[in-house]
Amino acid sequence: MKLGCCYYPEHWPEDLWTEDARRMAAMGLQLVRIGEFAWSRIEPEPGRFDWGWLDRAIDTLAGAGLEIILGTPTATPPKWLVDSMPDMVAIDEQGRPRGFGSRRHYCFSHRGYRAECRRIVTALAERYGTHPAIVMWQTDNEYGCHDTVLSFSGAAAAAFRGWLEARYGNPAALNAAWGNVFWSMEYRSFAEVDPPHLTVTEANPAHWLDYRRFASDEVASFNREQVEILRARSAGRDITHNFMGFFTEFDHHDVGRDIDVATWDSYPLGFLEQFWFSPDEKRAYLRQGHPDIAAFHHDLYRGCSKGRWGVMEQQPGPVNWARFNPAPLPGMVALWTLEAAAHGAEFTSYFRWRQAPFAQEQMHAGLLRPDSSEAEAAPEVRAAAAALAEIGPQQTAPAQVALVFSYEAAWTIGIQLQGQSFRYLELVFECYCALRQRGLDVDIVAPGADLADHAMVVVPSLPILPQGFADRLAALDCPVLLGPRSGSKTASFAIPGRLAPGDLARLVPITVTRVESLRDGVSEPGGGGEDGWAVTRWREDVTSDLAPELADAAGRGVIYGKGNIRYCAIWPDRALLRLLVERMAQEAGLPLIDLPEGIRVRRSASHAFTFNYAAEPVFVPHLGITLAPASWHVEAL
Ligand code: GAL
Repeated sequence: MKLGCCYYPEHWPEDLWTEDARRMAAMGLQLVRIGEFAWSRIEPEPGRFDWGWLDRAIDTLAGAGLEIILGTPTATPPKWLVDSMPDMVAIDEQGRPRGFGSRRHYCFSHRGYRAECRRIVTALAERYGTHPAIVMWQTDNEYGCHDTVLSFSGAAAAAFRGWLEARYGNPAALNAAWGNVFWSMEYRSFAEVDPPHLTVTEANPAHWLDYRRFASDEVASFNREQVEILRARSAGRDITHNFMGFFTEFDHHDVGRDIDVATWDSYPLGFLEQFWFSPDEKRAYLRQGHPDIAAFHHDLYRGCSKGRWGVMEQQPGPVNWARFNPAPLPGMVALWTLEAAAHGAEFTSYFRWRQAPFAQEQMHAGLLRPDSSEAEAAPEVRAAAAALAEIGPQQTAPAQVALVFSYEAAWTIGIQLQGQSFRYLELVFECYCALRQRGLDVDIVAPGADLADHAMVVVPSLPILPQGFADRLAALDCPVLLGPRSGSKTASFAIPGRLAPGDLARLVPITVTRVESLRDGVSEPGGGGEDGWAVTRWREDVTSDLAPELADAAGRGVIYGKGNIRYCAIWPDRALLRLLVERMAQEAGLPLIDLPEGIRVRRSASHAFTFNYAAEPVFVPHLGITLAPASWHVEAL
């Protein structure tokens, strides 16, 4: 695995560049990403390009032996461009235009802005497409960051109407699919349909789901336009996009299909602070990040682009954007780097080389401080480079378990939560943790992926079943777990005629007759005594001729199984997931490890890695050694 950093030559006096490049190489870095926000410097006036500085920056970095990832600057349209077409900005759900003065202030659907993007990307690709130091292109930057996938602009509304017409053909079909008779919401033409915002109470969930599908398609087609230009002018170079953590606003599998390498931006401490983790977890993992945050995304993004992936931005110290921004425990930056290698990353690139003394991110650490002295992470990068050199390149072996991840499932559940705490992403993450805590390796895959190579399949929830999904599951002979709400909606967001779980009832013959959600703090006894599982958040009433495999303390069925396939009719808590993982692993003949709190393992094709994410030393029984905080152990297999 190579190491790299994100660098902004346009932020620094030119006489620093040569020394910066030399120091990067001396630190063990081989890659540098540049350019993704530099539009106002590349084209200071409409049509007047200033290539001189970028030519010199690229040649300086290349002169130090660094390989370059060049970003297209379309996340930051300059002021003159916005002023030349003011309606290119996105409109938020409240109907307000997103102002100029930060970034991502564009609407994916604006045809004029798209033409501008094609123009700047073409210019960049023609200038640098065959430069020997350019090894990869990054399209734009973090699609969707700052809540920018959905736009409610005139451009978006017009494009949505066209999208609907292509999908439904005539308004009667749309009315029928959405159930628009319900509140006299019927349309006589596609021209009458608006985006689903600013309604008095909730808009039709089918309307929302199609708007989300449409918006996701817009991101994918926006990206594809850049990919086509780059491919035609920069043969042999890879194309990537840097995705975000815990982010489901567009279908990453769709965008991933068009690029060569899926990359993501890894900020474990910021994510721990900003997401659903409990106060105890936030305390215990304050400076390390939850032990599964980075690994979860490594395994997710490996599944987004034919197996090739990397970390484009790795947190090197405190960030600036979370509610609280602690410093990593000494050693964590190196540990995060090794964890990426263990999951098969092609590279890890630190964000950023030098902390900026000005503007929005001046409180965000870099590998250097603003005065160019080395920050705390710098020696850790050297340590990581040395450790990587010692173990050599890592190949990914197919994991034992496939965990099915669906962006459409995230939208469907999010649109109609029914219970505030039914968070799809959290459910998938909890399933992932339950597997990884027992030492299993996981491939996180799209619903359409081939599942036949795995010894166990977990589908945390899949409300809308893709065509043929039930048949593909039926062909498997390994243990399969289906989570709650699976098969509960049709493609147009209605309850299926035979009730949930729809087509899956061919595999596990049950019918969900009623669902209820439970407020936080409510916990009804399940099984297994004091440390046992309980019913929290969500419960389904099931009728079936099958006797339940597990029932709660009141005798209500919770797990139903037929052959190798199980259905879980509640939100599975940690104890229930643990029990299910044990049963399924036993059936699959997979050995489990009882890992102490904070310890995780990961196998590549050649090595077994063990990591300590705890803030204190931990004895690791399966190795018979004690690992210091933020340290790891690697063994050749
Ligand atoms: C990422 C973004 C970077 C920078 C970084 C700060 O989301 O891609 O440009 O803002 O966060 O942590």
